Amino acid sequence: MSEVCVGRREDIPDGGACILEVDNLEIGVIHHEGQFYAYRNLCPHQGGPACEGVRMAAVVDDVDAQNLFQGQKFNSSEMHIVCPWHGYEYRLSDGVNVCDARLRLKKFEVTERDGHLYVTI
Ligand code: FES
Repeated sequence: MSEVCVGRREDIPDGGACILEVDNLEIGVIHHEGQFYAYRNLCPHQGGPACEGVRMAAVVDDVDAQNLFQGQKFNSSEMHIVCPWHGYEYRLSDGVNVCDARLRLKKFEVTERDGHLYVTI
């Protein structure tokens, strides 16, 4: 394993992402609310650039006390990465597909030292 410097923390503003290429491997580094996540930019569905998709809060059913469906709403505590090719959604926290846990983005560890971000490959 090796560490690759991605840049300074402030190079990726909150809500932003950067794509880097290391040894023919594209990796997306995503900043969300102070946390950094790194995934291989390769969707396990058909190879789309998953990390370049939008990120959005999970959509959950809104059910009342009588268990009646009231509609849907966003759950901002669970963010998803949406692959731009066919819309498969992966949890930002762990890269697991929200419909099929067998599908997952390859995750890399991100560490911060002296204001710089490093991805362990
Ligand atoms: S390649 Fe990502 S959803 Fe199809």
